[in-house]
Amino acid sequence: METSRILLRPWQERDDESLFRYASDPEVGPLAGWAPHKSKEESREIIRTYFLNDHTWAIELKKSGEVVGCIGYLRHNESNISIGEKEVEVGYWVAKPFWNQGICSEALGLVVAHCLHEKGFDALWGDYFIDNPASGRVMEKCGFIHTGATRFCPHLYGGEERPVEVMRL
Ligand SMILES: CC(C)(COP(=O)(O)OP(=O)(O)OC[C@H]1O[C@@H](n2cnc3c(N)ncnc32)[C@H](O)[C@@H]1OP(=O)(O)O)[C@@H](O)C(=O)NCCC(=O)NCCS
Repeated sequence: METSRILLRPWQERDDESLFRYASDPEVGPLAGWAPHKSKEESREIIRTYFLNDHTWAIELKKSGEVVGCIGYLRHNESNISIGEKEVEVGYWVAKPFWNQGICSEALGLVVAHCLHEKGFDALWGDYFIDNPASGRVMEKCGFIHTGATRFCPHLYGGEERPVEVMRL
């Protein structure tokens, strides 16, 4: 999937170095509920375990070929919240040097279109830590609405103390 600026493509094990460069940033993972990566080996293992599937993509900048983030969806049996069988939960992050350039909204727009028009899912959900409003804004820009519901997701990194707000499209 692509726009004039970004390409969403499958992850490869050889992306471990790019992933580690940005996923080791302590300002990225904790906002999304995961711990900063500690080594390139850990990043490679995460690619192998969680990213090599048909619903997780590397966000690549076409101009430089650099991988600057990750986006995907969780199916109902993997979701952080309770959702229906034909529903999914989106998740994403972008490396800090590239924040506030519209990259994540562009990537989420592609994933939303894929989920609704190609996969035919009934609904998309998203949840974001209330203290991370930029993530809620990305979903708003792609048509999600605030449900007003909040949840604790204790299995997320930092999720026992910080509530998420649930959004739906
Ligand atoms: C949240 C995140 C994915 C956004 O990526 P991005 O590429 O910067 O997003 P975009 O540029 O497309 O949109 C960001 C929007 O949030 C807004 N924003 C930024 N900081 C904000 C803040 N503190 N409060 C409210 N809105 C904010 C931006 O102004 C922009 O909205 P606008 O286009 O209406 O001006 C990125 O900051 C990130 O990866 N953060 C760490 C991990 C994370 O939070 N992942 C999401 C987990 S649910």
